[in-house]
Amino acid sequence: MPELHFEDKVALIAGGTGALGRAVSAAFAREGARVIVTYRRQPEFDGFASQSKGSAHGVTGVMVDATDAVGVARMIESILANTGALDILVNTIGGYHGDKRIWEEDLASYEQMMSLNLKAGFVLARAVIPVMIRQSRGWMVNVASRAGYGQSPGAALYAASKAGALALFDSLAAELKSYPICVNSVVPSIFDTPANRQAMPAADYASWPKPEEIADVILFLCSQQARIIHGAAIPVYGRT
Ligand SMILES: NC(=O)c1ccc[n+]([C@@H]2O[C@H](COP(=O)([O-])OP(=O)(O)OC[C@H]3O[C@@H](n4cnc5c(N)ncnc54)[C@H](OP(=O)(O)O)[C@@H]3O)[C@@H](O)[C@H]2O)c1
Repeated sequence: MPELHFEDKVALIAGGTGALGRAVSAAFAREGARVIVTYRRQPEFDGFASQSKGSAHGVTGVMVDATDAVGVARMIESILANTGALDILVNTIGGYHGDKRIWEEDLASYEQMMSLNLKAGFVLARAVIPVMIRQSRGWMVNVASRAGYGQSPGAALYAASKAGALALFDSLAAELKSYPICVNSVVPSIFDTPANRQAMPAADYASWPKPEEIADVILFLCSQQARIIHGAAIPVYGRT
């Protein structure tokens, strides 16, 4: 991979203490970016922060519910007051719900899927894109899912929420065509996380992409070298 330079960049990683979020945060910190992660549970952030001490700027955290527009606006104001810029937003927030057919589903599960997989990205983008427009600079990557392309029996709500996210960021990219801001999605199938190993103990983990491998793709998408990639949905299925 060509050398990537993030020393002068401020990166906000939403869900940055989750399985993929940790790898993404660590990758940006390793490359010298100033990294801010969102989290919801203090012990999860404390565990992550103690592992990230060796990086150039360390990693700071903000406890926020990313679906809360007021809380997110406050967070962005505070980041700008502390750093003066916000160059990169990676949204790794999301969650899975399945094993039910549509007619067996309840409304609470519908709301939860839309909230995690669609609303959080909308609230974050809505707050951050105006900052990037003012700066005339920015990169955003949203993490979608292969399920968003449909045909996911037993996981229709998850699939619909991820399809919505793909459409949302594709449309955002079209709206930003004349601005120097790159917006892309990455589209994982399954990847190697402790939760997936626990849920599928008999699976062949070796074929699953590692979070660090997906993080490298995201890093590249946020680099100067990838500036012609805009409005893409990059599959990171590996061989799954
Ligand atoms: N794992 C897979 O195989 C797979 C496959 C395809 C796509 N994806 C997508 O990849 C992304 C990352 O997955 P992952 O496995 O790394 O998930 P994860 O470990 O569950 O991480 C998600 C993170 O988002 C946080 N979060 C959830 N709701 C939030 C909210 N309202 N505000 C702020 N933070 C919130 C979670 O915090 P809490 O821990 O406090 O809930 C968690 O730290 C997700 O979008 C997922 O749908 C995953």
